[in-house]
Order: sequence, then structure tokens, then C-alpha cells
Amino acid sequence: MSYAKIIGTGSCLPARVVTNDDLAAELATRGVETSDEWIVERTGIRQRYMVEPGTTATDLAAIAARAALEDAGIEPQAIDLIIVATSTAEYLFPSTACLVQARLGCHGAAAFDVQAACTGFAYAMATADSYVRAGRARNVLVIGSETFSNILDWDDRRTCVLFGDGAGAVVLSASDEPGVLGVHLGADGSQEKILYAAGHVANGQVTGDPFLRMDGQAVFKQAVNALANSAQEVCRQAGVQLEEIDWMVPHQANVRILNFLSRKLGIAPEKVVITLDKHANTSAASVPLALDAARRDGRIKPGQLVLMQGVGGGFTWGSVLIRM
Ligand SMILES: CC(C)(COP(=O)(O)OP(=O)(O)OC[C@H]1O[C@@H](n2cnc3c(N)ncnc32)[C@H](O)[C@@H]1OP(=O)(O)O)[C@@H](O)C(=O)NCCC(=O)NCCS
Repeated sequence: MSYAKIIGTGSCLPARVVTNDDLAAELATRGVETSDEWIVERTGIRQRYMVEPGTTATDLAAIAARAALEDAGIEPQAIDLIIVATSTAEYLFPSTACLVQARLGCHGAAAFDVQAACTGFAYAMATADSYVRAGRARNVLVIGSETFSNILDWDDRRTCVLFGDGAGAVVLSASDEPGVLGVHLGADGSQEKILYAAGHVANGQVTGDPFLRMDGQAVFKQAVNALANSAQEVCRQAGVQLEEIDWMVPHQANVRILNFLSRKLGIAPEKVVITLDKHANTSAASVPLALDAARRDGRIKPGQLVLMQGVGGGFTWGSVLIRM
């Protein structure tokens, strides 16, 4: 068994759809001005899904994980490792992965979270791939789950219109057939202040600033460059030409970033899976949500070459090249 291969995917979106018009009306009651026209033109986002108070990243992750297990046709007991990528964990500890493990009944499976903001799913996939290829795990649940609506400052229109909630999951299993072909991860911690949420718990209180803050234009420039360089690097390592890629499943932050990216790489825009119009930016959940959507609607087929990419706070970036 020399490869780790995706054998199932699943996702979960909260029931509440918030359109740009809904959000604009809600923000107007706080004296914050925005519009569907501005949001669509600058980002491509038309709506997002949001959790009701009390629904957590664990709740969404467990539903997405169950759907992925069902799609894979394996029982929870067959899972020997659970990795959850999240920046909006339910608790400081135990990890979201441990809470999901208990819900699913995968007793004994190792479980931990990774935190690499919107690159979290790429980091989690890279970690899972290493475990499988080293022979230390056979079936891994890799989940991205977020409730970013809990860390948005509704008085800051530059950020609060961009994000949504959701979860996506894959089952990554040991296989003789090619699956993960290449992985490329990177970070630049000196860019911490372009995208961050600096709150923490100390002495029984939340201290610092618990809201997401962002320098949008700096993030935009860094994102395009990081994603383009990372795509080229992962293809070089795997000995694959960019033209051979069937589908790009990039982090869903802004359609203008994705247009720049596909132009820079010379990849046809029709090959880029876009879900941000419906989901907005769901951080670590965005890539597995988009992957599951494109598999279930029949676009991504077995045997195709798929490039998944993340980019975000840290600053972090990463690519995972997969034969489906
Ligand atoms: C956030 C982003 C959409 C802003 O677009 P932009 O073209 O850079 O816009 P600016 O921030 O320069 O703002 C332009 C104007 O629009 C206004 N504006 C900002 N948000 C607005 C909103 N939601 N509604 C209406 N107007 C808004 C600003 O106040 C500014 O007005 P001013 O010139 O009178 O001050 C864009 O920078 C972006 O997408 N960056 C990447 C962000 C990202 O992807 N983050 C997640 C990465 S994981």
C-alpha cells in the first residue's frame, strides 16, 4: 500500500441561508452600509450559510464526517485517525477531533486538530497522507469545520460580509492505486498582522481582540502569489504539467483571486471549481466543501487529477495534488 487515496467525501451546511440583501438589511440596523452590488462585484459572494446560536464546529464536522463515511462505505470503527482543521474549535480542549470521535463512535482512534487558518485542510491532508504512507494509519477522517460567524465584527464591513459557516470531510485510505501525488506547504509568520484573530482566554476572561481582522489588499496580493507559486512547486515535485490538471479546487475566498490565479497559471477558468458564490469563505472548510460539491454533481470523476489549494492567516499556504 504505497498511496493514500480519497475513498469518500461529505459535507454539512447549516440550514440558515443569509443572502447579501439579508445581510445588508441586518447591518443597516447597526448603521453599517453595504450592498449586494458591492459584495458581488468585489468578491463574487452572493450568500452564505450561518449557524444558529449554540451550533458548533463539532456539530457540523460530525455530520460531514458521517456523510463521508457513508460515501466511502466504511464503518466508523474502521477509522484509526481523525484530524480536524479548524480555527473555531468548540473548546480550548479537548480538540474538536476528540469530540467528533465520541459522536461517531470511533473508539480508540487517534484524534487531534490542526490550525492553519484557511490553509488548515491542506495541512491536515498533508499530515494524514504522511501517516498513511508511513503505515501508521489505514483510514483517516480529514475534516475542515468552521463557525466563522462567531468571530466576525459586525461593525466592520470590510470583513463581516466575506465569511460563512460549514464543514467538509474526506476519508483518506491506504491504497495500491495512486491518490495523493504531491504536497507543498508553506508559511510566513512575519505576515501575522495581515489576517488574524488575537483573542485568547486568560485568568477566566477573554482578553485581547476576539474578532477577525484583515488587511484585505495585502491578503489579496499575497494570496495570488502564494497560490501560484505553490501550484507550480507541487506539480514540479510530482512531475505533472499544469496543463494535465483536470480540476482546481482552491480556497474559496474571492472570485477575483481565483481569476488572477487561473490566468497566471494558464489554467482555463472552466477548470476551477467555484462555490464561494453560495458558501462565501468558510476557511478550513471551503476546500472539502467544494470538493464534495463537485464530486456529487458529477464534475470531478474517478481517475481525474485534482489540485486542492489553501491560503490564509499565518500567513500560510498549501497545495495537495490528488488522483481521484
Ligand atoms: C476585502 C476586499 C473584498 C476589499 O476589496 P477592495 O477592492 O480591496 O476594497 P477596499 O478595502 O480598498 O475598499 C474600497 C472601498 O469600499 C468600501 N467597502 C469595504 N467593504 C465594503 C462593504 N462590505 N460594502 C460596501 N463598501 C465597502 C471601503 O470602505 C472603501 O471605501 P473608501 O474608499 O470610501 O474607504 C478585497 O481586498 C479582498 O478580497 N481581499 C482578500 C481578502 C480575502 O480573501 N481574505 C481571506 C483570505 S483567506
